[in-house]
Amino acid sequence: MSPISSQAGGPGNTPDAAEWRSRAAWLAAELNRHNHSYYVLDNPSIPDAEYDQLFRELQALEQAHPELNTPDSPTQRVGAAPLPLFEQVTHSIPMLSLGNGFEDNDIIEFDRRVRDGLDTQADSDIEYAAELKFDGLAINLRYEDGVLVQAATRGDGTTGENVTSNIRTVRAIPLRLHTEHPPKVLDVRGEVLMFKDDFAKLNARQREAEMKEFANPRNAAAGSLRQLDSRITAQRTLRFFAYGIGMLEGADMPPSHSALLDWYSQLGLPVCKERGVVKGASGLLDFFRDIGGKRPQLPYEIDGVVYKVNRLLQQQTLGFVSRAPRFALAHKFPAEEATTQVLGIEVQIGRTGAVTPVARLAPVFVGGVTVTNATLHNEDEVRRKDIHIGDTVIVRRAGDVIPEVVSFVPELRPADAQSFVMPSECPICGSAIVKLEDEAIARCSGGWVKCAAQRKGGLQHFASRRAMDIEGLGDQLIEQLVDRDLIHTAADLYKLGLVKLAALDRMADKSAQNVMSALEKSKSTTLGRFIYALGIRHVGEATAKELAAHFGNIDGLLQASEEQLLEVADIGPVVARSLLAFFADPLNRELVEQLRAAGIHWPENLPAAGGSKFLLGKTFVLTGSLPTLTRDAAAAMIEAAGGKVTGSVSKKTSYVVAGAEAGSKLTKAEELNIPILDEDGLRTLLEESDHDQD
Ligand code: IVH
Repeated sequence: MSPISSQAGGPGNTPDAAEWRSRAAWLAAELNRHNHSYYVLDNPSIPDAEYDQLFRELQALEQAHPELNTPDSPTQRVGAAPLPLFEQVTHSIPMLSLGNGFEDNDIIEFDRRVRDGLDTQADSDIEYAAELKFDGLAINLRYEDGVLVQAATRGDGTTGENVTSNIRTVRAIPLRLHTEHPPKVLDVRGEVLMFKDDFAKLNARQREAEMKEFANPRNAAAGSLRQLDSRITAQRTLRFFAYGIGMLEGADMPPSHSALLDWYSQLGLPVCKERGVVKGASGLLDFFRDIGGKRPQLPYEIDGVVYKVNRLLQQQTLGFVSRAPRFALAHKFPAEEATTQVLGIEVQIGRTGAVTPVARLAPVFVGGVTVTNATLHNEDEVRRKDIHIGDTVIVRRAGDVIPEVVSFVPELRPADAQSFVMPSECPICGSAIVKLEDEAIARCSGGWVKCAAQRKGGLQHFASRRAMDIEGLGDQLIEQLVDRDLIHTAADLYKLGLVKLAALDRMADKSAQNVMSALEKSKSTTLGRFIYALGIRHVGEATAKELAAHFGNIDGLLQASEEQLLEVADIGPVVARSLLAFFADPLNRELVEQLRAAGIHWPENLPAAGGSKFLLGKTFVLTGSLPTLTRDAAAAMIEAAGGKVTGSVSKKTSYVVAGAEAGSKLTKAEELNIPILDEDGLRTLLEESDHDQD
């Protein structure tokens, strides 16, 4: 359909009117479809610019022909004039809260109460719907005859605030349900929240505008939803997930919670994919652990999971106790935020000399552990957050992420609170602390030669799992080795010997022996890992891999000019200059030489272009530990010859490479009659591939 210029439009009842109407309806349907794909199905269907074009066309049409403007038009999502205050709304059915559980036992008890209440002992009789506990704000959306007519916050559960104009701006929420036969009245309940990346973008904008940042996505969502000016809400991306129901008239109540959510999904309402139907306390606990593992990767924050008895009839039998249902329970993760006091602010020196201010805290239990230190990132951040010594602060520890200070509580600042002063000298080596103009970070100018803190950081990075992967060589061991001056560079690690290792504190002979074997094993690596392990500034894992693939050997990289470096995919001037500076230093070149002399090696030249792709189309599974090759080294060799390495054995697997302590994958390979290779077998196969090339 070709666009019709709205400028040419005549008054409502000219012969053109029907055409305008149909064009407007088509545009509205297109925009709604794209919104649904993007915000509900998580599957964008057109570029933003094209969406905006359609949107502007509809806006212009509606302006020229106001009779085309309907309350469910997508143009109504831009916000309305500010309200003097929010009107109160009484919920027709109260919005309740949930009982909480934290320990496994709380969940076992919940399941027992449910079974007692339903007079059954067998696990198999009761299905639970398990879903996420979103960290946002509860909301009630009222649809009448399929059209969104009102949105209200939970408030005290009985009365909330009318936030309809704000909710209209939330593109995840349909203004009209996707059905020909909508119920007369439907109260959809769910959570309004902000996704993590939208939160980060909002805070970046706030920072640029020199406005206060939000402490977390929940506060940002609350602040945005409770805006009297809905045009501001419209500029913030809020999301919604449906999880409950209030009033329903003119349709039958679905027989279970899972059926309710399926129905919502058909109506075009966003329903979270991470949900399931499970049985028994063990099913609940499995769900909890599974979600706990996925939590860091979820694009939004959750503070636990929620279990609901699935069958509606069983829910009704169980009923409510005070203000919470007996049929549901929130299983919460340990709180990720807590309040405590800043006892002092010290600085830590990282492997590149970066000076990080760290708050020393009164011990506080947060994110499941006791925290006594939290990062303040850098000097600018301390200023921006305005943290003083003596302040009461909110500390956050999310998953395995290092604890950080989020903000301070202004009302609790003592009169003698002291601001932070960046020291002028490195507390470890005494070298000057310098700050380059174009950098936010101050650095110790000592370098690893002078500064033990930088040496420790560099060695910890070198030994880390994604670098040389020296198992058992932990941070504390490295501290001791550096403090006792037993090692200076990474190359010294390979000269240590068993005797010196075994003499360290808390080091049994057996562990010393293990570290020795790990050191030996680490010598067989990949070029990418080796480059990454050197700890060159701006050279992360991905860049190191690119460099390895491009140059194929270390000498090529050592000799590369700036132009040659810039030819590598994704390498820009900053990274190129950092590489040149690193390799211009004779000490660094010597380190590379010494490490090679110590026996560190990798499959040379293999990833470079032109190798024989003998194993193209062949799939390998690696299991158990091989005598000399690390898993990565073996994988790199296979991939260099064109093969693919996957994680699980199936009929399609060509070879299983098995080492010591191989488990179920080996058994499966035997069952499926898949050829099994040991390390020698793999090497022979790869040599054959080399041969073929000749
Ligand atoms: S059901 C009658 N399901 O948790 C049960 N609530 O303490 C009503 N929440 O205020 C709530 N995710 O804001 C339910 N999947 C979920 C939820 C959820 C988050 C919040 C909601 C409510 C609070 C209950």
